Amino acid sequence: QDVALGPYRHYMQKEIFEQPRALADTLEGVEGIVPELFDDHGVRSRAAWRVFDTTQRVLILACGTSYYAGCVARYWLEAIAGVPTTVEIASEYRYRTSVPEPGTLVVTISQSGETADTLAALRHAQALGLTDTLTICNVATSAMVRECELAYVTRAGVEIGVASTKAFTTQLAALFLLTLALAQRKGRLSPEQEAQHLRAMRHLPAALQAVLALEPQVIRWAEDFAAKEHALFLGRGLHYPIALEGALKLKEISYIHAEAYPAGELKHGPLALVTSAMPVVTVAPNDALLEKLKSNMQEVRARGGVLYVLADADTHITASEGLHVIRMPEHYGALSPILHVVPLQLLAYHTACLRGTDVDKPRNLAKSVTVE
Ligand code: G6P
Repeated sequence: QDVALGPYRHYMQKEIFEQPRALADTLEGVEGIVPELFDDHGVRSRAAWRVFDTTQRVLILACGTSYYAGCVARYWLEAIAGVPTTVEIASEYRYRTSVPEPGTLVVTISQSGETADTLAALRHAQALGLTDTLTICNVATSAMVRECELAYVTRAGVEIGVASTKAFTTQLAALFLLTLALAQRKGRLSPEQEAQHLRAMRHLPAALQAVLALEPQVIRWAEDFAAKEHALFLGRGLHYPIALEGALKLKEISYIHAEAYPAGELKHGPLALVTSAMPVVTVAPNDALLEKLKSNMQEVRARGGVLYVLADADTHITASEGLHVIRMPEHYGALSPILHVVPLQLLAYHTACLRGTDVDKPRNLAKSVTVE
């Protein structure tokens, strides 16, 4: 047993449980929303003021789990900051003929800061004249931090498990801060709203701790999943990228084929696959889309599909035949993706353990993809 693991069986499990600490460290010293937060913690003075004041749109570039963090951020940036945002897979963007738009802030997201495609996509954007660049990165000494004008260095700490967990939730926290900083510069954030958002962010570590306490319930779900070969994840809006991330985690480490769909697309294809042999995980926060999501769940049940629902604290979804429910401890509004992803990380982890895979080093995958 590796001493560094402490009471945990794998690094991935340890890293999942480190998330309250990782979030607290990432947000440490954030007293208010100021552009300087993105001046590489004060190293590059006041560049962020100029950049944010001229930002008209955001282009996010990333790979893997970091790309899904970008997909969540798009909802925040458009809804809260009113900034048009696109998110692109770095390996697609770098080879696509695209039209650079003036006023674009290029945001790269990367745990390692060394992913070859993300670095190449950044350089491609720069060569097209998009020189306002910011990275959200977990490694302060990485090429990504060196090559971007602005940086927010997350403090998740070293991540060893190939499947990213604490890097993802800290990226989301940094992206939410970016959203608030842009919202403030655009005059869309009142002092009361700023205070309210900061309160919610400060409470995140405690809220996440409460979600980790759901582990025994998630293990019961994992016992069902371990015997399956396919799984479907559904989400809508802000939580569609969380469904994507849940499916990615499950396929990466348990080798179960998993796909995610925006729930509204069910009837355009995946409904044909629904049988009792394919569990359907549904991320169901109590938001404006909940009623629509409930009718999507009906569509699954009517075809004999078995649902595993992550319901919010205040939603009225109760367990019944073919409908398993885990209730989140509290409703968390805009920041809820940071909490909803945690039971999905645990589900993938425990399913993989039951299947006896090499959780920290899944076959054919690397932690950092530094070659194309
Ligand atoms: C690999 C890792 C993933 C990670 C992706 C992007 O595929 O296994 O966990 O999300 O690379 O890596 P980055 O370091 O750029 O976030």
